[in-house]
Amino acid sequence: MKRGIFITLEGIDASGKTTQFKRLVNYLKRRGYDVVSFREPGGEDVSERIRKILLDNRFALTREAELFLYLASRSQLVLNRIIPFLKDKKIIVCDRFSDSTLAYQGYGRGLSLKLVKKLNDFATNRLVPDLTILIDVPLKESLKRAKDKKKDRLERSGISFYQRVRGGFLEIARKEKTRVKMVDGIGGVEKTWDKVKAVVDEFLQID
Ligand SMILES: Nc1ncnc2c1ncn2[C@@H]1O[C@H](COP(=O)(O)OP(=O)(O)O)[C@@H](O)[C@H]1O
Ligand SMILES: [Mg+2]
Repeated sequence: MKRGIFITLEGIDASGKTTQFKRLVNYLKRRGYDVVSFREPGGEDVSERIRKILLDNRFALTREAELFLYLASRSQLVLNRIIPFLKDKKIIVCDRFSDSTLAYQGYGRGLSLKLVKKLNDFATNRLVPDLTILIDVPLKESLKRAKDKKKDRLERSGISFYQRVRGGFLEIARKEKTRVKMVDGIGGVEKTWDKVKAVVDEFLQID
């Protein structure tokens, strides 16, 4: 292995990403892999500060400012953490990454997809995950699952925004079939985990 492996989890709010992310990290550790995990936005000192701004409901960010804050956070994480760990042959698991920016800021907020892709590449030094697991749930299911802050956010941005985001994720998966594996997240936690595990086992050739 020349370098480590980079795995990301994607999906709309309350699709079950963090639940599956924790399971995946524990599973890989139990199997003896050297795993490092991050959440986005965050995972690095400056990125965690930026996260606070992004998730603070009191601020009304322009869509451009929002885009640049996500990218600034990602750049810090990639250059200061992910790339060094990849060189060190770790498995890196990340809860959200560049696809979220394309789905939310591109498809969702309506910024140019071409521009968002270009800026994602610029911010990450063209780092692309080796495997991305997209957990797909209908909006109705995500609204049912979301509580408190997440529910507020969903309701504030509006249903049609999240429909576009979900559609964006599905389009990314269709266009990048090799990298992005879609998992139906509608079943319970165990059922979804079985599917996530199957994707990862096939990718890592675990039998
Ligand atoms: N497969 C599932 N079926 C039902 N509820 C789930 C499932 N996965 C997660 N949840 C619940 O939905 C909520 C959101 O899950 P979470 O993993 O935090 O989603 P995300 O990180 O995508 O926002 C949590 O309360 C969680 O316990
Ligand atoms: Mg989460």
